[in-house]
Amino acid sequence: RLLIIDFGSQVTQLIARRLRELNVYCEIHPYQNVTDAFLKDFSPKAVVFSGGPDSVTREGSPRPPASVFDLGVPILGICYGQQVMMEMLGGKVESGHGTAEFGRAWIAPTDKSLDIFNGLFLESGPDGTPREQVWMSHGDHVARIAPGFEVYATSPGAPFAITADETRHFYAVQFHPEVHHTPNGKTLYENFVRIAGFSGDWTMAAYRDEAIRKIREQVGDKRVICGLSGGVDSSVAAVLIHEAIGDQLTCVFVDHGLLRMNEADEVVAMFRDHYNIPLIHADEADLFLGELDGQSDPETKRKIIGRLFIDVFQKHADTIEGAEFLAQGTLYPDVIESVSFSGGPSVTIKSHHNVGGLPEKMGLKLVEPLRELFKDEVRALGRELGLPDSFIGRHPFPGPGLAIRCPGEITREKLEILRKADAVYIDQIRKHGLYDEIWQAFVAILPVRTVGVMGDGRTYDYACALRAVTSVDGMTADYYPFSHDFLGETATRIINEVKGINRVTYDITSKPPGTIEWE
Ligand code: XMP
Repeated sequence: RLLIIDFGSQVTQLIARRLRELNVYCEIHPYQNVTDAFLKDFSPKAVVFSGGPDSVTREGSPRPPASVFDLGVPILGICYGQQVMMEMLGGKVESGHGTAEFGRAWIAPTDKSLDIFNGLFLESGPDGTPREQVWMSHGDHVARIAPGFEVYATSPGAPFAITADETRHFYAVQFHPEVHHTPNGKTLYENFVRIAGFSGDWTMAAYRDEAIRKIREQVGDKRVICGLSGGVDSSVAAVLIHEAIGDQLTCVFVDHGLLRMNEADEVVAMFRDHYNIPLIHADEADLFLGELDGQSDPETKRKIIGRLFIDVFQKHADTIEGAEFLAQGTLYPDVIESVSFSGGPSVTIKSHHNVGGLPEKMGLKLVEPLRELFKDEVRALGRELGLPDSFIGRHPFPGPGLAIRCPGEITREKLEILRKADAVYIDQIRKHGLYDEIWQAFVAILPVRTVGVMGDGRTYDYACALRAVTSVDGMTADYYPFSHDFLGETATRIINEVKGINRVTYDITSKPPGTIEWE
């Protein structure tokens, strides 16, 4: 296994992700935990030093134990990790002098023969010299390299972009090979793990086994409560935890009456009947819709739903005796966001509802088995656990559900119309084979009635808007360019099949300036 020593970079998890993509098992450990004894016990086959925000020129800045260099295994130092390596092995790092570099840069090799360059520098720049695009992000720079090291690549701002001690297989790179802006960074990792002797036979199945072991270790014989939303993340977390501890797990599914057509039944059928997971179906539609009655302000609606959700969840969780843990399907991007943006000066666009405050309020400890994973990895894990593909590939669905797709006041009548229209729309998308190309697609029912004519009669019904966007992470999005034929056919079907709608529009706003949901 490979050890990643974390010096606090925002992108350390991306290193792990690149390595998992290469089917190499790795673990990230914060530098504070990595002692001589730890290293001996872990016995890594290779080590990566992550980047980090500190400056090695600062007294007391993070260091690994010196014994890491005596393990006799390959080491890759990235950015801050590179500088730590240089400093500890006898080189010199300096701050400032206008050599900070942030953003895209091109590096050129001084010597292409290095083992770790296999498959790199195949393209040349305008002047005919081979080069690679990389992502730089550093304030400090190496002023003198350590004895035994040689320079293998340079960039205009980083004369020591890649240095290496080939005998010991120590590699020090100034840039970040793990980010997407270093397009061939993966090749560098691939070469590194090959040099370290990894065979690349690790799989998601092994990840599952390891995750199960960790859950058992953390939970022991205690009980765990899991809030199930029907979404992919909480579902994968629930099935994984159930595999680990069986009926020590109870799921609570808060049904706020704002779900899509047949959704509640499907969730109950899958978890209670198929997986035999103890499940409390909290059918609280009356409560939620009652309190939402007459409310039209988006934030007020969100706040009501968030508050009731916590109340209801707590009420049902209290009936589970001896519960000590709360399971959550937190993913790595959620972790990064909360670290880098918490307390920041950003304004609240929408108050997202989640159960973030619950664990402290209820005195529960957290189990978050997906904390290290990205969405596509969660899906792969879900497949590994036998969840059906149709379920794993589902579009994200927001916690407040249809409430935010029904701008203005919510009524049961509008919700019913919305559910039917949405089902027709999604059916159309699936039939045309477009579902997997789209990040999210749904119908919003508009708070306006318009006049129409059907047959010989006048209609006065609701208008609806179709929404479909592509996105990588939901933070930005483009509207999906359906063909006019598709849109026409879908509009006809909705108007013919859904009583209560007589006008269909297509929302062609991207995000920003729009948001994906309507409220
Ligand atoms: P917006 O509308 O902000 O949505 O562009 C971005 C993504 O987040 C989802 N979303 C939510 N998810 N609780 C959630 O769990 C919420 O309160 C919430 N609001 C929006 C939205 O569906 C889209 O995927």
